[in-house]
Amino acid sequence: MISNSRFYLSVFVFTACISSTQTSDTISASQTVSDSSDDSLISSTGAFALGFFSPGSSKNRYVGIWYNKIEEKTVVWVANRDNPLIDRSGRLIVVEPGRLLLLNATNATIWSANISTTAQAPLARLLDTGNLVVTDANDANNFIWQSFDYPTDTFLPGMKLGRNFVTGHETYIASAKNSDDPATGSFTYHCDPSGYPQTVIKEGSSVRFKTGPWNGVRFSGSQNLVKNTIFSFGVVIGKNEVYYHYNLLNDSVYMRFTLSESGVGQRWLWSYLTRSWILYLTIPSDNCDIYRVCGAYGVCNTKTTPDCSCLDNFEDGGDFSKGCTRRTPLNCQEGDGFLKYSGIKLPDTEHALANSTMSLQECRAACATDCSCTAYAPLDISNGETGCLRWFGDLVDMRDISPGQDIYIRMAKSELGSGSRKRKTIVVALSVVMGILVLGLSMLLYSQKRKKQNHRQQESEMPNYMDAQYPSESHEELELPMYDLSTIIKATDDFSGNNKLGEGGFGPVYKGVLEGQEIAVKRLSKTSLQGQNEFKNEVICIAKLQHRNLVRLLGCCIQGEERILLYEYMTNKSLDLILFDQVKKKMLDWPRRFYIINGIARGLMYLHQDSRLRVIHRDLKASNILLDSDMNPKISDFGLARTFGGNETGANTSRVVGTYGYMSPEYAVDGMFSVKSDVFSFGVLVLEIISGKRNRGFTLIDHRHNLLGHAWMLYKEERSLELVDHCVEYSSYISQVVRSIHVGLLCVQEQTEERPNMSSVVLMLNNDGVLPESKHPGFFTGRDVKTNETSHNSNTASSGNTMTISLLEAR
Ligand SMILES: *[C@@H]1O[C@H](CO)[C@@H](O)[C@H](O)[C@H]1NC(C)=O
Ligand SMILES: *[C@@H]1O[C@H](CO)[C@@H](O)[C@H](O)[C@H]1NC(C)=O
Ligand SMILES: *[C@@H]1O[C@H](CO)[C@@H](O)[C@H](O)[C@H]1NC(C)=O
Ligand SMILES: *[C@@H]1O[C@H](CO)[C@@H](O)[C@H](O)[C@H]1NC(C)=O
Ligand SMILES: *[C@@H]1O[C@H](CO)[C@@H](O)[C@H](O)[C@H]1NC(C)=O
Repeated sequence: MISNSRFYLSVFVFTACISSTQTSDTISASQTVSDSSDDSLISSTGAFALGFFSPGSSKNRYVGIWYNKIEEKTVVWVANRDNPLIDRSGRLIVVEPGRLLLLNATNATIWSANISTTAQAPLARLLDTGNLVVTDANDANNFIWQSFDYPTDTFLPGMKLGRNFVTGHETYIASAKNSDDPATGSFTYHCDPSGYPQTVIKEGSSVRFKTGPWNGVRFSGSQNLVKNTIFSFGVVIGKNEVYYHYNLLNDSVYMRFTLSESGVGQRWLWSYLTRSWILYLTIPSDNCDIYRVCGAYGVCNTKTTPDCSCLDNFEDGGDFSKGCTRRTPLNCQEGDGFLKYSGIKLPDTEHALANSTMSLQECRAACATDCSCTAYAPLDISNGETGCLRWFGDLVDMRDISPGQDIYIRMAKSELGSGSRKRKTIVVALSVVMGILVLGLSMLLYSQKRKKQNHRQQESEMPNYMDAQYPSESHEELELPMYDLSTIIKATDDFSGNNKLGEGGFGPVYKGVLEGQEIAVKRLSKTSLQGQNEFKNEVICIAKLQHRNLVRLLGCCIQGEERILLYEYMTNKSLDLILFDQVKKKMLDWPRRFYIINGIARGLMYLHQDSRLRVIHRDLKASNILLDSDMNPKISDFGLARTFGGNETGANTSRVVGTYGYMSPEYAVDGMFSVKSDVFSFGVLVLEIISGKRNRGFTLIDHRHNLLGHAWMLYKEERSLELVDHCVEYSSYISQVVRSIHVGLLCVQEQTEERPNMSSVVLMLNNDGVLPESKHPGFFTGRDVKTNETSHNSNTASSGNTMTISLLEAR
């Protein structure tokens, strides 16, 4: 019924507009979309258009589908990509018994939809998803053909990338030749169901990249494709079909995935604000993503030089293209065992065997009794560890990755004992019980001989230290290179004063050189009251969390009294040293400031929304934002972070830690902290970055507001632009500046529940939607008490007291 009335409506619209440009979403038999009269189809809500176009500087004509509301012409599908029209004579028609044809001047078929079914009253309709479908007018929901089954170089939301076993049809995308020629290029992107589904980029018939198998949550080797608030994604594994798909969580967002002419998979997000596409993520993303770059039993790690090393208990012959071989050959008759390796991208599953009902014990038994089975692993980690994946033959395409997975690799009996590890490894068992607080953590230090190359953490099957202490699905293990004190002393020239970079909350930070690489060394002060716990927290958090806007922890040292953390070194030190320096702040023009705000927002979003752990930073401030040589911002100092189970949003703490000026009211007064306290600190940072002034210590002659109060007052009077740092030329970015200030103010609102979460912040910064009115900020009439976590204010015994007092004064 609905479809019929829609059909008549469409015909009516078509008839009404027949003299001018056609604006229907449908063509039926006897109607045409013709290039010479500039016809097009527009989907019902106007999201997509279909018509004729010429790409780039080409004069050839193609039928394509593009976003109708985006001024930058973005074609998502091309009908005749391999057979262009050379003039404007093209006509797209629907003919009985259900064929969609593109004809040229001499009525030769330039392109046709490959339709085998017949339809009595065929219709072609452009849907709001960007899908061009052919149906029978009487059965509009039954697509006898759809462009989503024949995509070109773009994988759109709602499309099914994969294989239909009933029809034998495979849906995949293929790159274009170049921007002037949409013809089929040399790269393709598939969802390959063989063994166990993974997605694959190929050049011709050779594999360039595999994501690793789907594990119920993500692809085993995907670093950046994680649960988020913009789109959902998944792999559907059924008897009749296997496909990979994604769907937007909000219709007003545009996202597309394309395969570039050089074979890079790119996920793009439309920014309403900059009116341009933002590159959201790419695959492959680094050298270690190259398919089987380290050969059999090799592991790739971008943080080591060279990238490739062998799994422990394997050896290379000096050439990684040949991979690694076992130190001790297997002997199935004598009874082999299994060693557990953690934190890796699972090997290629093309020839693996999957069973979703087996338990891990059954899996091990099945693998143990089959001499050709080389390894096993849980199949699905979405709900504990379920199912069974077994490998036969050499294991290839592994890399270090975070979050990574566990795999149990068959090993000769003699290799099962301890004493084989090549580098000391710290293993932290983190037990999250029933999603409440982190109840227990234990550190097991292994002191084995350190050799050059490897760092796989592993445990032999007996004894299993982990299983002895915790139920198997309630813990995760981490690894982190451990260094001894003498190495650190050498790297920092015995903590020489010349190498001191600064004094952090818990001790001094030094510059050092380790294995040719510049590093930052944080030495926890022995006198620090907060030492131990914060140290452990920091070790756990940072080792687990990897994101390009988070500072990377490279290793640690626990020896005697010493607690030392090793980080990547940031050439441009911390944001406060540049932002609040009258000369250096000129380096930060508006695009750079906006970039930094966005980077911090993304890093914080990652901390708050990582699918399994929720990390609250609790001490976000300008001096904790470090800048690398390209001025990319990275959040540092997780010393105060708390980890929670996924559904825990906040907690009460008796001890208030943090920095005055960045602390939210509910945290400073009541010790209540949550992700929204971090959002508050983020808001303060945004306003500081825009104004170039510190919130704490901000004074103006004419009133007694702090920076937040000042910003809010200007906002109320629609004078927000007056907040901007005087050295910043912003005239070409006015709407972006105004929006950023507005978002900053939304983040510092007094009422916790009014503050947006970080994913909304990221969207609000990059889209053009209407923002809610900001209510007044917390602390906005603060008489500023100049205290500081490292200052020497003799009137204040402890910063905790001062903060509370200053707040009460403020109210
Ligand atoms: C129409 O296409 C046919 C087949 O490709 C070609 O031979 C013919 O020259 C074309 N006619 C025009 C006018 O382009
Ligand atoms: C092409 O087909 C149209 C409609 O069927 C017809 O009017 C026209 O004469 C044909 N042109 C040629 C060159 O055959
Ligand atoms: C059209 O479909 C048939 C079978 O349905 C298939 O054999 C043929 O290769 C397809 N042609 C194109 C161009 O996809
Ligand atoms: C989608 O985004 C728009 C604009 O940002 C917002 O108004 C709307 O509430 C969102 N819809 C949903 C379902 O989140
Ligand atoms: C999976 O394993 C179970 C238990 O061993 C077995 O009964 C079942 O047939 C297996 N399924 C497949 C598809 O092999």
